[in-house]
Formats: sequence, C-alpha cells, structure tokens
Amino acid sequence: MSLTLDSYRLLGRSGLRVSPLALGAATFGTEWGWGAERDEARKLFDHYVERGGNFIDTANTYTNGSSERLLGEFTRDNRESLVLATKYTTLRRPNDPNSGGPHRKNLFASVESSLRQMNTGYIDLLYLHVWDFTTPVEEILRGMDDLVRQGKVLYVAISNAPAWQVSRMQAIADLRGWSPLVALQIEYNLIERGGERDLIPMAREMGLGVIPYSPLAGGVLTGKYSRDDLTPADAASGDGTRKSFNFARGTLTERNLAIADVVQEVATELGRTPAQVGLAWTLLNPGVTAPVIGARTPAQLADNLGALEVGFTAAQLSRLDAASAVGLGYPHDMLASDMGRAFAQGDLKVEARR
Ligand SMILES: NC(=O)c1ccc[n+]([C@@H]2O[C@H](COP(=O)([O-])OP(=O)(O)OC[C@H]3O[C@@H](n4cnc5c(N)ncnc54)[C@H](OP(=O)(O)O)[C@@H]3O)[C@@H](O)[C@H]2O)c1
Repeated sequence: MSLTLDSYRLLGRSGLRVSPLALGAATFGTEWGWGAERDEARKLFDHYVERGGNFIDTANTYTNGSSERLLGEFTRDNRESLVLATKYTTLRRPNDPNSGGPHRKNLFASVESSLRQMNTGYIDLLYLHVWDFTTPVEEILRGMDDLVRQGKVLYVAISNAPAWQVSRMQAIADLRGWSPLVALQIEYNLIERGGERDLIPMAREMGLGVIPYSPLAGGVLTGKYSRDDLTPADAASGDGTRKSFNFARGTLTERNLAIADVVQEVATELGRTPAQVGLAWTLLNPGVTAPVIGARTPAQLADNLGALEVGFTAAQLSRLDAASAVGLGYPHDMLASDMGRAFAQGDLKVEARR
C-alpha cells in the first residue's frame, strides 16, 4: 500500500473528497487529562494539513469544548479547504435533560453551539454521536435534513449505533428524500473487530463510508503497555491518564496484550512501528474510508502517518487475523456453513458481483 494524505477518497455515497486518514481532535486540549496544550495541538494540525490532510474529527463536548474552540482558531485561514466533522448528542450541561440526546431540540441547539465554538457558518459532516434507543428516528432524520436545507450542515452521519437501526434509518431517509447518512464512525481495530459482523457489511450495502475510531485501541496496540499494567491498583488509579482510562474501559487485558505482541512482531519484520502496523491493518478493509488518528504529540502523528506506506505479506495478515479474530456468530456462521449454503441455494452456483 502506498497512499498519501492527498490520495483523496469519496465519503460513502457522497461526492465529498476526504483524506484516507482523518485527524482526531479529542486530544486538542488538556481538560480530559491526557491531551495536548494549545501550541502542541497547533503543531499537530499544521503538520497534518501541510501533508495534504483535509479531514478533521471533533465533537461538541471533546475536552469540554476546547477541541472545537481550538479548531475554530486554527482553521481561520483555510476553513473552506477542510472537511470539519463534529458530533452531537453528548450532554452539554449537567442535569439538563434536553442538553443531550439525539432529539430535535438538542440537535438544533447543539449545532448552533458547535458553529459558535468553531467560529464557522457551516459544519461539513455532522454525526449523531451515540444512539439512545428512545428518540424516534424520523424526528432525527427530518431534523438533520432541515439543517442541510438551511446550509448549516452539508452531510450527515452516525456513530455508535446498531446496524439494524442505521440500516432502517437509511431506508427511511431514502424513501422520504431526506439527506442520507454518508458515514458510519465505529470503534474498529485489531482488538475490537465486532464491526465485521453486521456494521461494516451494512455500511457497504447502504452507502456509508466506515470511519474507524480508536484505531490503536487507545494506544494499547502501540506496544507501550506491558503485563505490569494489568494490575488494577496501579492502572485504575483514576489519575486521569490515558492508561487509567484504557484500564477502566477494559482495554488492558491479557488477550489484548497478546494481540499487541503479534503486532510488534510483524512491525519488527517490516522495519515499521507497531502503531503503523495497527493503523495500516484498519485501512485494508474495503468498507473503510478513513481511520481517525488519535495522536497526542507531533512525533506520534508523524509515526502514525507512516501507516500509509505499510504493505503486508499474506502470512503476516494471517497471523494478525488469527490473533485477533472474532466469531461472527449466528446467522453468519450458519449461512457460511455447507448446510446453510445448501439450504439457501441447493446445488446452484450463484455469485453476487459487488
Ligand atoms: N465516535 C466516537 O465515539 C469516538 C470515540 C473515541 C474517539 N473518537 C475519535 O477518534 C480519534 C482517535 O481516537 P483515539 O484517541 O482513541 O485513538 P487511538 O489511536 O486508538 O489512541 C490514541 C492514543 O494512543 C497513543 N498513541 C497514538 N499514537 C501513538 C504512537 N504513534 N506511539 C505511541 N502512542 C501513541 C496516545 O496516547 P498516550 O500517548 O497518552 O499514551 C494517543 O492519545 C479521537 O480523537 C476522536 O476524534 C471517536
């Protein structure tokens, strides 16, 4: 594989051109304990843009609003050349039920807040951040479409939702002539491959580009953690570091460190870093448009951008696959079995060409 940040790709079924790696801005600001100060964040932004990157990912509440505010400052001179993606639904004010959630009131208020924080007249890509299992989807889709018609949002998308609901929403949007969802942002990496069951195949079928987040599983795939970090007393100390966050999320486990070991072995064989191998692997899935890089320092960003040049041998890919595979479960296992195929098609040979 040899890509560059200016090897642009179309995002899902849209005509929007985006870089094959997005720049994650959840590390812009230190309010969450592990991010970058303003000047360091500026360097991350400048380096990414100088290399041809145009796809920036944030959310209304990242680092308590600092991420969007810093982006508003950094994009003052080149706003139009960038694809700014942000998200809504997370609670903006404690104990105020309508300051969060996917419903129309919060959708409109949150977009106004993001426009103010980013000092811009429009958002290129707006994601529903976290599905709540309660808001009627027609209310969400109609609200998103209204914002598109007003020109405040150009494209809409979704993150953290079950495949059955996204697929249903896309069908409703299509039938009503509302703006379709053009991207699906999901956690996808060598430690979390659950998206391969339904989310990624659904996205390919319905025209959503897959945007993997946490491509390095919060840093676990970079090889920076050891078995000593599995000790709760140390790692879960709640000291606000990325390590204690990873531990609290359940990402620091023996299984996951064993996957990181294989990533390290492959990286050594290729003369690459584990971060480059982990990121490059996410780019191989044909449903993936652009993973979101989560660098905290310029050195990490430069390292991660090297993923665009990594190529694997078939043997290396099988080792990574064997270490990280997830069972697809029912009905996929049944449908792929000899019995399932015989039930579906008898002796006929039918090939879908997509
Ligand atoms: N839609 C959602 O719900 C959602 C959720 C999460 C993230 N996101 C998006 O995805 C972006 C990336 O997520 P993420 O931060 O979880 O990504 P990640 O790449 O899995 O983890 C990033 C962390 O790993 C470490 N790291 C990164 N590159 C490294 C390198 N080359 N060498 C050593 N350590 C390295 C850094 O932590 P330390 O140096 O502190 O160890 C960094 O903060 C976010 O900025 C955000 O835009 C979206």
